[in-house]
Amino acid sequence: MNSLFKSSYRAFTNIALIKYWGKRHEDLFLPLTSSLSLTLDAFYTDTTVEFKPNAKADVFILDGVQQGVELTQKVSQFVDLFRETAGMNMPVTVTSINHVPTAAGLASSASAFAALASACNGALGLGLDNRALSIYARQGSGSATRSLFGGFVVWHKGEGEDSQSSYAEAIDDAEWDIGMLVVIINQQQKKISSRVGMAHTRDTSPFYAMWPSEVEKDLAAIIPAIEAHDFETVGEIAEHNAMKMHASILASNPSFTYFEPDSLVAMAIVKELREQGIACYVTMDAGPNVKVIGRLSEMDQIIARFKHDFKADQLIVAKPGSAPIELKA
Ligand code: DP6
Repeated sequence: MNSLFKSSYRAFTNIALIKYWGKRHEDLFLPLTSSLSLTLDAFYTDTTVEFKPNAKADVFILDGVQQGVELTQKVSQFVDLFRETAGMNMPVTVTSINHVPTAAGLASSASAFAALASACNGALGLGLDNRALSIYARQGSGSATRSLFGGFVVWHKGEGEDSQSSYAEAIDDAEWDIGMLVVIINQQQKKISSRVGMAHTRDTSPFYAMWPSEVEKDLAAIIPAIEAHDFETVGEIAEHNAMKMHASILASNPSFTYFEPDSLVAMAIVKELREQGIACYVTMDAGPNVKVIGRLSEMDQIIARFKHDFKADQLIVAKPGSAPIELKA
């Protein structure tokens, strides 16, 4: 519903094919490299924002439960960016529902901050476009920058400390034969958050020195492959990029890893499928779940093989998703 000072949006999560791993400016969430993702339809957040002139304080309700001081403060600080832009200071009530299939245990900060930015823009009638909103979303969580667009999206790292130069842009609508199978290995909260893990890798891993130039090479190669709808080249580059990120994480001091035994089982299945002529590739983020990049037309065969080692409710197919959509009453 979108009336005076009230607006609702749905935003979808995204999975990076060329990863963001490391900041050059912590407070502004400015990344050390550009990155590239695919927005997915299966995982999203619905958020309603309502500014209430007569309310006493900000309220944040997540999945039906009113949140405590810490999370509410995080939301308040983010909404402050919009209150400053609008030149007003009305208290806000934010109501969010995360639609991540039960047991998915996937990070929802990307869809959460993209939905919140879109709904703040709607509620305050600011008329900002998605590129401008991606700059706001970035300041909630880096990966949220890319959820302001659908399909394949690039997040430009930008220049120096210039916040305005670090935004997202859609490069391809992904309306071709590509999708992801998300393999749920473990639904628990990740042990080392991406925020902490990427800072530790940047500061202690000798391999991190190579990361920015590897990302640049991978981006330069994957963009034309996406434009050419060259599925195999896209998958090969994405898998190699993810492995380079995880290798540099492993070389941190003290060392850590997001891999779990079943992550390796899933990776071995992907290799086996490739040997049988079904092109599919692996990517992983700051947790043990494995995302298999596959052709949508071959997903049934991929799932059939995974069902030998995983339960059906651990396997979720996602198709390319869209930019945030306005939810009307
Ligand atoms: C491995 O966006 O969660 O998923 O900016 O600190 O909130 P913050 O981190 P976050 O990091 C995502 C890391 C990643 C790779 C990616 O999405 O590009």
